[in-house]
Amino acid sequence: MLTVKKASRLFKDGAAGFKNITFTVQKGEIVGILGTSGCGKSTLLRVLSGLDHADSGTIHLNDGSPSGAGVIFQEPRLMPWLSVEDNVLFGFKNPSKYRKQAAHYLSLVGLSEFAGALPRDLSGGMAQRTAIARALASQPSVLLLDEPFSALDAFTKMQLQDLLLDIWQEEKTTMVMVTHDIDEALHVCDRVIVLSGQPGEIAAEFKISQPKPRSRSDLSLATYKEKIFSILEYSNTGLQKYSVR
Ligand SMILES: Nc1ncnc2c1ncn2[C@@H]1O[C@H](COP(=O)(O)OP(=O)(O)O)[C@@H](O)[C@H]1O
Ligand SMILES: [Mg+2]
Repeated sequence: MLTVKKASRLFKDGAAGFKNITFTVQKGEIVGILGTSGCGKSTLLRVLSGLDHADSGTIHLNDGSPSGAGVIFQEPRLMPWLSVEDNVLFGFKNPSKYRKQAAHYLSLVGLSEFAGALPRDLSGGMAQRTAIARALASQPSVLLLDEPFSALDAFTKMQLQDLLLDIWQEEKTTMVMVTHDIDEALHVCDRVIVLSGQPGEIAAEFKISQPKPRSRSDLSLATYKEKIFSILEYSNTGLQKYSVR
C-alpha cells in the first residue's frame, strides 16, 4: 500500500539526505527504518509524509482510504493553550463532529480521564500519548513515526512501545517507524530496513517473524542485533570505537 521506488532526496551536493531507496509497506505492517544519526531518516520520513518531496523516484500511498499519513515527531508539538481533547481535534474543520472519534483514541492511549487537562499538566509520556491520539484521530492510512520515544526515559519508552503494539493489536494500523534504537526496532517491527552511509542507502532488510508481542529478552532477537551491529560497523563491545582526532 506504500510503495517507494528508487527515491532520492539529496542535500550538500549529494553528501547528505538519502539515495536510491526502494521498499514497500503492506497494509497492517509495522516497518522500521533503522540507522545512525545523519543518515537521512528524518528526511525520508518527511518525504513519505508529503512535508518534503523526493528529487527523483516515486512514492505511492494507496489503499483507497481518503486520508494520507499521520505523523508523530520526537517531541509532541501540542498547542499549550488547548486541552488534551482539543489538541486531538486540532486540524479538523468541524471538530464537534469528531468528539466521539477523539474520545475513542484518547481511550486507546489511556488518557480518557485527562481529556480536559492542559499540556503543562502532562508528563512527557502523556504528552506523547496525546500526540499519538491526535495522529490517529484522522484515521490515516499510514502512521509515520520519527524517533517518537527517544526523548523519554527508558521505562516510559518501553511502556509507549508496548502501547503502540496494543494499538496495532486493536486497529492493525500500518506504521513506518524511524529509529536509531535497535532494541526498539526489534521489539516493535515486522520488518527492519537498515540505512547506512551519507547519503543513507539501504544496507540490509530483516524480516522479524517472531510474533508480537515479543519478550524483550528473547535470545533469537539477539542474532538480528549482532548482524545489525556489524552492518553499521559498530563494535558489539563498544571498546575500540572511540577515536579522538
Ligand atoms: N533542508 C535541508 N537542507 C540541507 N541539508 C539538510 C536538510 N535537511 C537535512 N539535511 C542534512 O541531511 C542529513 C540527514 O539529516 P536527517 O534526515 O535529519 O538525518 P537523521 O534523521 O537520520 O539523523 C544531515 O546531514 C542534515 O544536515
Ligand atoms: Mg532524525
